[in-house]
Amino acid sequence: MPDDHQLPNWNRPLRQADPAIKALFTGYLVVIGIGLCMAFAQIMLTHGMADGEFGLSVDDIVYSYYGNREGSLLESKLQGSMKLMADEQVRSQLIKWVREGSPRDEWDSHIAKLVNENCIRCHSVVPGIPDFRTYEGIAVVTQIDEGATIPTLARVSHIHLFGIAFIFFFVCLIFSMATGIPSWIKVTAIALPYLFLTIDIFTWWATKWIPAFAYLQMVAGFGYSAASAFMILTSLYQMWVPAVRK
Ligand code: HEC
Repeated sequence: MPDDHQLPNWNRPLRQADPAIKALFTGYLVVIGIGLCMAFAQIMLTHGMADGEFGLSVDDIVYSYYGNREGSLLESKLQGSMKLMADEQVRSQLIKWVREGSPRDEWDSHIAKLVNENCIRCHSVVPGIPDFRTYEGIAVVTQIDEGATIPTLARVSHIHLFGIAFIFFFVCLIFSMATGIPSWIKVTAIALPYLFLTIDIFTWWATKWIPAFAYLQMVAGFGYSAASAFMILTSLYQMWVPAVRK
């Protein structure tokens, strides 16, 4: 049978793969490689700028997921121009309340009283400054930046898990056809991206409550980038650089 009627043979190591298979794998790996670089650029430009400075740092991750909980106007004013309006003890109670998300029941039970005693002689009818006589009135200055919301996290998590698992699947499948690599390295390189992906998504959620998990998130992100770069480059190398014959 003439050669061009033959089906490609999938049962070959990368080095001897059929040209059609090489073309398919190469196209896929190159596009995924560019995609990874774009993902990196995008992370730098969004999360990377979260702390106002270029470049990804642990602070950026903390701001993106945990938020900036000292970020309420009420707290910054109480540390600043309103500092003299109440004594230390009152101020710390107000700050504690706002950091806890300004719960309404605490407003009713005792915060309203503190504000009445210390703030509303100005913060009531004076035009141009917020009216603190009601919960709704003070709510304007108690908003805090709590970082990513749960619905956002759930949405982005499932997209990432499904989407990236697919990308890794083919990268790993192609790499599994590489030869001359010790079995334990192969198995590790294939397992690591999945492990790190799971850790990465876990740390998104964990960082929302405990900022220190941002460090683990950086490790995981670096881990699966390195593992996939290794697999992509090794596969391309074996397909296109002829083996040295001894
Ligand atoms: C003697 C009058 C006076 C008292 C008492 C006072 N404030 Fe103010 N407050 C002002 C004025 C005037 C401003 C606008 C100027 C500024 O932001 O510093 C202001 C602004 C603020 C702002 C920023 C509002 C905005 O929209 O920018 C906050 C928050 C605030 N005060 C909180 C408090 C709290 C909490 C208390 C009680 C512990 C308090 N203030 C007591 C006069 C007062």
